[in-house]
Amino acid sequence: MPSSPNLYVYHRGEIIPLEKAFLHISDLAVQRGYGIFDFFKIINGIPLFLDDYLARFYESARLMHLPVLLTPDELKKVLYRLMAQNQIPQSGIKMVLTGGYSEDGYTPAAPNLLITQQPITLLTAAQVQQGIQVITYSYIRDLAEAKTINYSTGIRLQPHMRAQGAQDILYHQNGIITECPRSNLFIVTHDNQVITPKKDVLKGITRKNVLEVAHQKYATVEGVVTLTDLAQAKEAFTTSTTKQILPVVQVDDQVIGNGKPGTVTLDLWQDLLSLEKQQALVRV
Ligand SMILES: Cc1ncc(COP(=O)(O)O)c(C=O)c1O
Repeated sequence: MPSSPNLYVYHRGEIIPLEKAFLHISDLAVQRGYGIFDFFKIINGIPLFLDDYLARFYESARLMHLPVLLTPDELKKVLYRLMAQNQIPQSGIKMVLTGGYSEDGYTPAAPNLLITQQPITLLTAAQVQQGIQVITYSYIRDLAEAKTINYSTGIRLQPHMRAQGAQDILYHQNGIITECPRSNLFIVTHDNQVITPKKDVLKGITRKNVLEVAHQKYATVEGVVTLTDLAQAKEAFTTSTTKQILPVVQVDDQVIGNGKPGTVTLDLWQDLLSLEKQQALVRV
């Protein structure tokens, strides 16, 4: 449990201190792992791309038949109240919507909306320059378009991943790549096409932003990416809200490109940082 004195959370309709925020054991999130969430970051006190994250949150809720009892405007007001109370200029906000306090441990009830805020640290340039090694695993996320709270496979595989000296896992099915447990994957081909899987993935907000900046300079494709395409790629990288762009330099035993973060990847990383900086200057 995070121990952060003076942190406030939104818990079932009220803003209360974190240490007072508990969920009853009958909640379907506890009983069956049923719920959805979303996560966005705040830089200089400004939430970045908030409307995109809110749209995805409502879409995940819709796909899982969980009503959100607040309208997007009401939810935004709650988020701004929480941010004003916590005053953490560089942080992440997590909005969780659970299956609710179920009578029989299976039937959904009125969903519980819980919102927490925590400080975050972004990756340093040195970490990005180092890149990561990933291992492949045959798995496809259930209802991939929804950001559900089910991360069982990624979490269960952590000891295996560490034993292989890897820092992340790459999901594929029959050699067709989808995504990593908490990020999307891109490859860069030898003729500088920037390609990311289209089907059976969570539509990451960072993925969307990277496609947008990449489109200014390179050919971009949302399509099928196989393990063979990845092995033959010049570069590869993952994208996510917290890790932004992280170069992938090895997949299982296969070194990607020259084993170092590629020039297109680092160029897109700079462009993404600029896009985020621009957003962080926009007051709403
Ligand atoms: C399964 C999955 N794919 C991709 C992402 C990346 O999405 P975003 O860029 O919106 O953080 C996440 C983020 O947690 C995720 O859980």
